[in-house]
Amino acid sequence: MSIQAIKGVKDILPDDIAAWQHLEATARKLFEDYGFAEIRVPIFEYTELFARSIGASTDIVEKEMYTFEDRDGRKITLRPEGTAGVVRAFIEHKMYADSQLTKLYYLGPMFRHERPQKGRYRQFYQIGVEALGIDHPHVDIEVLAMLHALFERLGVTGLTLQINSLGDAACRNAYRDALKKYLAGKLSSLCTDCQRRYETNPLRVLDCKVDADKFNDSPVMLDYLCGPCKAHFETVEAGLKRLGIPFEVNTRLVRGLDYYTRTTFELVMGHMGAQNTVAAGGRYDGLVQEIGGPATPGIGFALGVERVISLMKPPDMASSRPALYLAALGPEAVALALPLIHDLKSSGIRTETDYTGSSLKSQMKKADKSGATYTLIIGEQEMKTGNAILRNMQTKEQSEITLASVVEELKKKLARVS
Ligand code: HAM
Repeated sequence: MSIQAIKGVKDILPDDIAAWQHLEATARKLFEDYGFAEIRVPIFEYTELFARSIGASTDIVEKEMYTFEDRDGRKITLRPEGTAGVVRAFIEHKMYADSQLTKLYYLGPMFRHERPQKGRYRQFYQIGVEALGIDHPHVDIEVLAMLHALFERLGVTGLTLQINSLGDAACRNAYRDALKKYLAGKLSSLCTDCQRRYETNPLRVLDCKVDADKFNDSPVMLDYLCGPCKAHFETVEAGLKRLGIPFEVNTRLVRGLDYYTRTTFELVMGHMGAQNTVAAGGRYDGLVQEIGGPATPGIGFALGVERVISLMKPPDMASSRPALYLAALGPEAVALALPLIHDLKSSGIRTETDYTGSSLKSQMKKADKSGATYTLIIGEQEMKTGNAILRNMQTKEQSEITLASVVEELKKKLARVS
């Protein structure tokens, strides 16, 4: 049997690529308008980095990482997300020394051994941003405004921004205690995972898919926020309102990664549910220090590229059509056309030809199918005269054109069309 791609991993074929490129180009342009610069970090890191940043008792670290020992016996993990690697690079290259606010974006594949289904893959792509250095709530607002603007530019509607605050080290413990007290009464009715999480990571219990309905009357973090965290959250809410960015406060929003503090958010499609989360993120004011850097606040988000693309209208494919189809009839014409084809392509005129030298009828069919703007016909007659026939595929008008002037003439004509 032939070898197939690994389960949960997919090829992105040329027919799909226009949407990927459109999303990537739109995100790059917008992020750069907001002053973010691209960073590319490795797709594998020492396992320890993820265990320490995402949290040893999270589902990602406990169950989903692709971890292996390399030939030197070091434990290596394919990155399950982008924040940890970016923060590692931020510390390693002392980027904090360059400016007060470091704004970075990245795109690329991430790996999680989850149960594959629509919108959930084992290799998936994220586009993410991280803003490190300032804990002012206006940075949160800017990051959320940028996320909102991205979906506006993409023309994707029907999404809801949900926000919450997870407090900080000063107030989270009081909430954790209250939550544990509340959960203690229900412990025997919880799934085995939740019984374990109750000890290791009680906030994660609220996000359990099995027991979700059981916690409608649980205490909520917002009621336990300390003064500074409360003021921070209120400023973020007020800022979003001032900018006209719609949002909902979801007091039950807890994230699957442990590094979050204060503002956390998810952009969800329609009703709630894991696969409906299109983008997510939040503040992580303790993370840089946690992995060995100087105390530096940070905030960011990442969007799931496959999920966003499934919501986008197919972009206009006009730009992927050739400008010219060159129909060379017979082997001599094919040989004669060789340098011309090279000149055309290297001059930026997208040209298609099939080198078969087949009949005019069959090549005109191919020209039609290719969607080319013009077709250049070189047959026996044309070879004798040094002229060729240029056909406008839309108006069907034909004109004679000298072979030597094809590149210049086409450039002029195409400039008029576009
Ligand atoms: P996350 O919520 O784990 O956050 O992932 C962000 C997004 O990646 C999700 O909302 C979803 O769209 C997409 N995603 C996650 N897992 C899969 C999967 N298996 N298949 C397809 N798409 C998936 C983070 O990764 C954080 N690093 C975000 C962040 C950046 N927080 C601060 N800065």
